Amino acid sequence: MQTMLNVALPKGRLGEKVYSMFEKAGYPCPSIKENNRKLIFENEEAGVRYFWVKPSDVAIYVERGAADIGVAGKDILLEYEPDIYELLDLKIGKCRMAVAAKKDFRDDMGRTLKVATKFSNIAGNYYRSKGRDIDIIHLNGSIEIAPILELSDVIVDIVETGTTLKENDLTVFDTVVPISARLISNKASYKFKSAEIDRLTQKISEQTEEQL
Ligand code: PRP
Repeated sequence: MQTMLNVALPKGRLGEKVYSMFEKAGYPCPSIKENNRKLIFENEEAGVRYFWVKPSDVAIYVERGAADIGVAGKDILLEYEPDIYELLDLKIGKCRMAVAAKKDFRDDMGRTLKVATKFSNIAGNYYRSKGRDIDIIHLNGSIEIAPILELSDVIVDIVETGTTLKENDLTVFDTVVPISARLISNKASYKFKSAEIDRLTQKISEQTEEQL
């Protein structure tokens, strides 16, 4: 019997790009394009079963073994530090984690810096490495508003095109880390389905070389 690989895909624009890479790599599942509200799709012949999940939840499905492999942003991996294997940089979904603030911001080292972010762990590690005392204000979205309303001095957030910052008169002060989508694997699955996972990783890596 064919070994099935359970794959968690991030729902949304990135997920569609990821699916096309899997399709080109020899893991098609035509029914996925029917675009209904279904969340699970299977192609037994290709040995693959796809699930659409919230991008920030992919690592949880993979860590707990509900999915064998998945695709998650490096931001999520750095923030939640799931116990998984990172197999491959897919070189898509590229953006960066950055520190941004109002244009006239100047850091006053005598005061605790107020940092608004959805990525408290990443922000904490970054400022700890700099020996800077901070007060983290954890928000769930629309982070750019925080410095405008003086809820925080700076933000640590994802910058892709820079449009959101520009539209809100904020500017980047430092890059914390570059981000891109990563192929990840559950640790036990990697042991028991190593041939299938290695084959898929190899096929997908041929796609990433084309991206360069
Ligand atoms: C992300 C991020 C920025 C924006 C950056 O927000 O938090 O707000 O995208 O993209 P840009 O540089 O191309 O403008 P998202 O759309 O995920 O919503 P959020 O407000 O929930 O974080």
